[in-house]
Amino acid sequence: MSIAIEGSRFLIRTQKNLYVMEADEHGLLRHVYYGKDIPLGATFELKCPTTAFGESPSKNRSYYHHIIAQEYPVYGRSDFRQGVLHVRNDVHGDTLLNLIYKSYSLSQKTPNIKGQPCVRNTNSPSETLTITLADESLGVSVDLLYTIFEESDVIVRSAVIKNNGSASLELLSALSLALDIPADKRWEMITLNGAWARERKTERFPLTYGIHAISSTQGNSSSNFHNPACLLVRPETTENYGDAIACSLIYSGNHQTQVELNTFDHVRLSIGINPFDFQWHLEPGEIFQTPQAVLCYSDEGIGAVSREMHSFVQQRLIPPQWKDHPRYILLNNWEGTYFDFDDRKIVSMAKDAADLGIELFVLDDGWFGQRNDDKTSLGDWFPNMEKIKSGIGDLSRRVSALGIKFGLWFEPEMISEDSELFRKHPEWRIECPRYKPCQGRNQYVLDLTREEVVDYLYDSVATILKDSDISYVKWDKNRNLTDIMSIALPPQRQKEFTHRYMLGLYRLLDRLTSDFPHILFEGCASGGNRFDLGMLYYHPQIWASDNTDAVQRLDIQWGTSMFYPLASIGSHVSAIPNHQTSRHTSIQLRGAVAMFGTFGYELDTEKISIEDKEIVKQQVKAFKKYRQLIHQGEFHRISDPDTNIACWNVSSLDKSEALVLAVRVITQGNPGSFNVRVPNLIPDALYRIDELGITAYGAELAQMGIWMPMLRSQIKETELSCFCSWTAKEGDPSFADFSGMIFHIIRIK
Ligand code: GLA
Repeated sequence: MSIAIEGSRFLIRTQKNLYVMEADEHGLLRHVYYGKDIPLGATFELKCPTTAFGESPSKNRSYYHHIIAQEYPVYGRSDFRQGVLHVRNDVHGDTLLNLIYKSYSLSQKTPNIKGQPCVRNTNSPSETLTITLADESLGVSVDLLYTIFEESDVIVRSAVIKNNGSASLELLSALSLALDIPADKRWEMITLNGAWARERKTERFPLTYGIHAISSTQGNSSSNFHNPACLLVRPETTENYGDAIACSLIYSGNHQTQVELNTFDHVRLSIGINPFDFQWHLEPGEIFQTPQAVLCYSDEGIGAVSREMHSFVQQRLIPPQWKDHPRYILLNNWEGTYFDFDDRKIVSMAKDAADLGIELFVLDDGWFGQRNDDKTSLGDWFPNMEKIKSGIGDLSRRVSALGIKFGLWFEPEMISEDSELFRKHPEWRIECPRYKPCQGRNQYVLDLTREEVVDYLYDSVATILKDSDISYVKWDKNRNLTDIMSIALPPQRQKEFTHRYMLGLYRLLDRLTSDFPHILFEGCASGGNRFDLGMLYYHPQIWASDNTDAVQRLDIQWGTSMFYPLASIGSHVSAIPNHQTSRHTSIQLRGAVAMFGTFGYELDTEKISIEDKEIVKQQVKAFKKYRQLIHQGEFHRISDPDTNIACWNVSSLDKSEALVLAVRVITQGNPGSFNVRVPNLIPDALYRIDELGITAYGAELAQMGIWMPMLRSQIKETELSCFCSWTAKEGDPSFADFSGMIFHIIRIK
């Protein structure tokens, strides 16, 4: 890790990569290079041309912004691509801006962004380069921040825009970064797209001329439509080979991730707060700080950048006390009981869970106010005394006395019309006085741009947390913003609403997670509607999807793993037929897929068979044994579920063991055989796989691969048999499909 300044050139070196920019003779901060390090030194004479024919205007006839790679481009001075900063001055009303390089500074720290989730300082060194650009005629300056880390190949960028002038300004857009990749159109983009119950499905497509943007306009969510991240790869790039650039945003609200390919074959990647319906008013002396964005490059394929992102999230983003802390195996009552429970039922489920070896019982929706369905009581964060007769404090202590931790569901950002809170404070609901606000799941959203609302929510949640024996909170959010307007904001600040909402939410989460550091907060938003780096700063784990079907989960967890570590992916075993897809899969397969996440159960323990209970016990025991390997190891994707063979593995950092999941999704008559090549082992070390009765060298496992057995009878009984549904239960048609197994590879020499 180093940052060097050579004249007007800036060279940022991470573990394996080099990022170069320079201020040119016109003061324009140009992007020069991002890729694998050139350790022996570079002449930098291989620059992209800056001249072009045609009718483009320019300052002198050989200088055209729109074919120059820039660091923080703006529109209006011969760059006809979309810029990342757009400012309107309130004196003349024009939007021209001319940013010129002024100065730089270096610091040995990670900058703290006040009020927003951001990268954490740790004991491991980091370095930050700040480059200041300014338009002195307008009194605008921009600090571009680049932070790098001793232990990582990631670069974190953000921008601080200052109004140094004497009149106010309007920010019309202020993205977190641009990355210009000059003169080669042969790039492909990978994005994660979906909807409720089918979140984060990967899509890969070649760039074509013009713009491709993914974004959120949901206001309070980064969204399950498009995750705030993307990958750029070359056509030849695979999981293990070739150029891959990952880019992701530490933000949970409206985002925009955009790639523009212009007709000179230059690629511009940008990411930040969505400019759509955004504006920010800056009085003289005020600043605007963009969210941080994360960049990562590797020439060793998509898998390598995923692993860099995983380690970055674990080391630098999640609350540090959870970094090495084992994730609790939990039982959540939602799919088991929905709203239909009382304290007797809860204690009985918690007792079952404790007997099964489960470590945490989570009481989901329905414990508060008058809540017996989804029509009432959001906002009334005190116990429903008809169901929980002695209150939450007493219930939590009764559950703890069974030897199992207690967790509780909240949805603090919401309000029901039928609630005491609404009767007292109807003005706290987000609405525009001209219209009747839209309902979503019979509920409305609270105006978190107002300090008093955030304070009320802090007090009501903190009161319960203080009075009870609570080790876990599930923080849910089940509707998006509509009717966006706050009666507490003046007209010229209404377009600030969604970002101010996010700042209010971050303030609330910051206070609660700092004041209750021993509580594990799990994020949730109708499943995985807010799975992003912003939320991971507060919630070390996030419920990945309301879809608990093991087959669809293969896809969801495969996509999620592109950017997010397994320790962050909330995954549960639920009952069959599955409540979202009606599919029947074996308890073994459900366990095997959930194992590659935080792991837990979401079913009525009083309704599972004695046989399945025994399997659950074994699964819980096995997860406890392998949890550290799964959560701290290196994750490799091997075969995409779309190919009908889903396969991935986790190996320990010292490569002495690995755990592999292999699933044949749909059974075929007389199927072809399939082979699993296991990456990331030591080539000349000898390994044993008890489940398959095999001993082989690492090189054999990687290069020849393992031929998966055709028949269940060829698989040995081990402690991992509780995850094995290979070729199903012979003769049982309900389990003909979805054969899967986990095998453990252990070094013996
Ligand atoms: C959302 C969550 C579920 C559950 C319900 C409760 O849908 O994603 O896991 O908590 O709310 O209402």
